[in-house]
Amino acid sequence: MTDTSQTKRALITGITGQDGSYLAELLLDKGYEVHGIIRRASTFNTGRIEHLYQDPHDSEARLFLHYGDLTDSSRLVTLIDKVAPHEIYHLAAQSHVRVSFDEPEFTGNTTGVGTTRLLEAIRMAGIETRFYQASSSEMFGATPPPQSETTPFYPRSPYGAAKVYGYWMARNYREAHGMFAVNGILFNHESPRRGETFVTRKLARAAARISMGLEKYVYMGNLDAVRDWGYAPEYVEGMWRMLQHHEPDDYVLATGTAYTVRDFADHCFARVDLDYRDHIRFDEGYLRPTEVDALIGDASKAENALGWKAETLPPQLADIMVTAELQDLQK
Ligand code: NAP
Ligand code: GDD
Repeated sequence: MTDTSQTKRALITGITGQDGSYLAELLLDKGYEVHGIIRRASTFNTGRIEHLYQDPHDSEARLFLHYGDLTDSSRLVTLIDKVAPHEIYHLAAQSHVRVSFDEPEFTGNTTGVGTTRLLEAIRMAGIETRFYQASSSEMFGATPPPQSETTPFYPRSPYGAAKVYGYWMARNYREAHGMFAVNGILFNHESPRRGETFVTRKLARAAARISMGLEKYVYMGNLDAVRDWGYAPEYVEGMWRMLQHHEPDDYVLATGTAYTVRDFADHCFARVDLDYRDHIRFDEGYLRPTEVDALIGDASKAENALGWKAETLPPQLADIMVTAELQDLQK
């Protein structure tokens, strides 16, 4: 660990995920010492942060990885006590909505109670820190758009319900214990680092592979769902801004635009001069028992208070993602 009293230390749970990897980049660029919690796995799960890896024996190293899990309270207490971070970004979760219907209990344990374990670990360690909770537009569920910080929650999945619980726990630690705890209510945000089973990455990947003759069809579920898709690197900047604000509060981050899954498919396939209708087949296995029909965010509070505004809109996002897939295939 570097020992300069000026250096800010951040702890990221979920550093190996899409957002964690972009956030680690951002914080390292800003001069932070970054600590990340990773899960022990029998295969490497650090692919998204490989380019950031620094040998911890190097005296200049500012990135440190620690084994840990959201289900292991004592480990969270020890780690927080040892690292004593100035800022904690809690991004780790079972984050797949469809999977949460198959694994509701596990999702509740990690995505929901995991937040409580972390908040309680901070309280037990007795440190002064700022806490970011990765809340989600999925919490709005069936409540019609536009959705803002004052929109009532109506979760439609075990994942959404677990995130509502995490949201209220962060609020409660703020109100009950005076903790600087912030909820970032983020609408869908994507990138070439998005997990391959989320819809944008699945479509971008399929369009690229089909255009190269590697596959003919991709099997999809509901193409009529409306989402507000932004670009992940911009959203992690918003997370950081929330923790720099003079007081803790809750903020929506979104583009305010509405596209259907079908629109996104159209943009991805048009990028490689194909018609999506020739290549998409229906598989009911990708439907959800309860669907969230439309998410469209109103991020005006974040714009006014934090000066944050989404720049990249879905057509450009589709272009970025398909281009990255094509480049990968040409390696
Ligand atoms: P992601 O790519 O699925 O990353 C999830 C991270 O959590 C991974 O690093 C994963 O580790 C880790 N993790 C899962 N279970 C864990 C456990 N039991 N203990 C410790 N770590 C665990 O998710 P993301 O897209 O980056 O999203 C980051 C956060 O924002 C999540 O909480 C998500 O629910 C929330 N969110 C995302 C969006 C979005 O559109 N991306 C929108 C709103 C909210 P492995 O790499 O080992 O699997
Ligand atoms: N994954 C997937 N796969 N989704 C499909 C498919 C398919 O084959 N076909 C249609 N969809 C539809 C889903 O039914 C959903 O309406 C929409 O595409 C988006 O699905 P996902 O990309 O899986 O994202 P999500 O909106 O359910 O959840 C993501 O965004 C939330 C924020 O609103 C995740 O990142 C969550 O972690 C996040 O909180």
